[in-house]
Amino acid sequence: MEYLIKQYSLESGALEIQYIEEYFGEFPLKKTAAEIIDRLKNREFLILMAESNLTTDTTETVVPVSYKVVHELHAKEKDPKLIDLVERVQDVVSFDERRVLYNWLGGTRTDWRGQGHFRALTEQSEEWAHAVGFHEVLVKTKNHSYDMRGTLDQLEFNVIKYERHPVDNRNSKVYLSKHLTVDVLRSHTSRRNVTQA
Ligand SMILES: CC(C)(COP(=O)(O)OP(=O)(O)OC[C@H]1O[C@@H](n2cnc3c(N)ncnc32)[C@H](O)[C@@H]1OP(=O)(O)O)[C@@H](O)C(=O)NCCC(=O)NCCS
Repeated sequence: MEYLIKQYSLESGALEIQYIEEYFGEFPLKKTAAEIIDRLKNREFLILMAESNLTTDTTETVVPVSYKVVHELHAKEKDPKLIDLVERVQDVVSFDERRVLYNWLGGTRTDWRGQGHFRALTEQSEEWAHAVGFHEVLVKTKNHSYDMRGTLDQLEFNVIKYERHPVDNRNSKVYLSKHLTVDVLRSHTSRRNVTQA
């Protein structure tokens, strides 16, 4: 199977993500286009969406079914959320003369899960990141995000930190990362057709 991937510019990508997140019951706090633009506007980023067929009784259309947003993370951030993130990982991620990428947002619509769309987006983002000069990709998830944890395991992310929640262990934070080596690119398995939106 060849995966159809679109790379978006900031404004149109932010609107598409706002739209697709409406389909995710798991996310209590959905991101608005304004929040996405604000986070990404002054940094290197990549917005990708995978598309697939949606067939109804009368029509067949192509719709976005999976998405991924990654962005550069600096040692010195201004956004309070990112300042907090950098503080939490500074003992496990080195920023010294290294470019660190943060896997910020992502998901696949329920009906299209388990078909490899998220692997294809992840592999495409890794290929881009390596070409652009990033050294490591960081991701944060929650203990109870079982689908995402299982997926990150299959995608060979390594756990680098676990922060136990003081009250409910299900809400503990899990930090994972992957070093972007040539071997990582060689391990990719998806066939991808990438176009600009
Ligand atoms: C996690 C998620 C993005 C996976 O998307 P997907 O398109 O179904 O993933 P893929 O089909 O590309 O699967 C990629 C790999 O992960 C594995 N995988 C997918 N879902 C899995 C699960 N629930 N448990 C274990 N492994 C899983 C697949 O088998 C595949 O491995 P392989 O390529 O080695 O065979 C999707 O389930 C999702 O959107 N979940 C809700 C989002 C979420 O949990 N967010 C939490 C905030 S971090």
